[in-house]
Amino acid sequence: MPATCSLRRDGPASEGPQRGVRSGMPIARVAILYPGPSGSEERTAWLDHRFGPVVAELRRAGADPELTPYRDEAADAALERLRGMDAVLVWVNPIEDGRGRAGLDAVLREVAGGGVFVSAHPDVIRKMGTKDVLVHTRGMGWSGGDVHTYGSAEQLRADLPQRLAAGTSRVLKQLRGNGGHGVWRVALADARADPGPDPVLRVLEARGGSPVQEMPLRAFAERCRDYFVGEGRVIDQPFRAPGPAGMVRCYMTHAEVVGFGQQRVTALLWSDDGQPPPPAEPRRYHPPTHPEFQALRARMESAWIPEMQRVLDVATEDLPVIWDADFLCPPGRGPGDGGDVLCEINVSCVHPFPDAALPRLVRATLRRAQGRR
Ligand SMILES: Nc1ncnc2c1ncn2[C@@H]1O[C@H](COP(=O)(O)OP(=O)(O)O)[C@@H](O)[C@H]1O
Ligand SMILES: [Mg+2]
Repeated sequence: MPATCSLRRDGPASEGPQRGVRSGMPIARVAILYPGPSGSEERTAWLDHRFGPVVAELRRAGADPELTPYRDEAADAALERLRGMDAVLVWVNPIEDGRGRAGLDAVLREVAGGGVFVSAHPDVIRKMGTKDVLVHTRGMGWSGGDVHTYGSAEQLRADLPQRLAAGTSRVLKQLRGNGGHGVWRVALADARADPGPDPVLRVLEARGGSPVQEMPLRAFAERCRDYFVGEGRVIDQPFRAPGPAGMVRCYMTHAEVVGFGQQRVTALLWSDDGQPPPPAEPRRYHPPTHPEFQALRARMESAWIPEMQRVLDVATEDLPVIWDADFLCPPGRGPGDGGDVLCEINVSCVHPFPDAALPRLVRATLRRAQGRR
């Protein structure tokens, strides 16, 4: 298997002017790290579709981009390639395939240790991109404050009932996950009965196609036991029924808002008769200037992001070149008008993103890459 993969000449990646190398020398060598292996026609079409615009924009800016596959089994080959780069943009999410991050993180740390700019760096993912961020920033204006951690299945069983007031739901999230895996809406099945020490719960996982189920707390805590392995834990925040604005996703380059996504999310909605939710509508993308989101943009740039950086101790240039923050917007309020609640931050593998983000992402990458030359 080749260590790198060229995009087809007729794909979107070839739309830019030259090979991106001006006067013989590229201004930066930038690796786009994707989940290998490469090779098949189908795979090449996927790469074209996914990364063609990034490659084209990097070339337009004078950089020399290279698609580099990553697999745990071939980590050494990837390490060799990446050592020769000025910057690495990582679009690999090993968690998605049920693997851990250990192999990838070791490669990225080693490369970053040699001075290569890595986005996103594993340390930054750890600080911002796990559900712990909801706990660490619960004193901030983007949180209702009522956020808790369970360190074991036993603690979950002991502490959850007091938070399940009649008629309310909580959302429990495993520390690392995506696609709704290990994100559960939990409520008392019978809001009128005395809950007692082992109440029957109504539960629904956010993973697509999940059924609404009823089970005793004890059984639910057992169902969650895997989430506590190693450094694992479960974060608990209130359920917020999304208002008409739904979920608003704020796309960021470093500390600047570079676009928005908006989606009517349904993952944790259930009807009174326990029917599972309808599928979500597709996300719509907007530039950072979209009028409806200017209050949120101002809050993010002037208050929340600087505060988050202080709380988490992350310097502006260490924020990834593309990341996003998801907000649940309550009924009757516009995004950024107060009441928005942080749902999660995505730091690794943010794709797709609004078109307006691309030139900013590339500019930021080259600034950081050139800093090392
Ligand atoms: N507090 C909440 N209130 C209502 N719905 C929520 C809440 N938290 C998560 N959800 C729903 O669950 C989905 C998955 O949760 P999220 O925190 O984004 O985890 P993941 O990492 O799996 O994407 C969200 O897209 C949203 O639809
Ligand atoms: Mg999510």
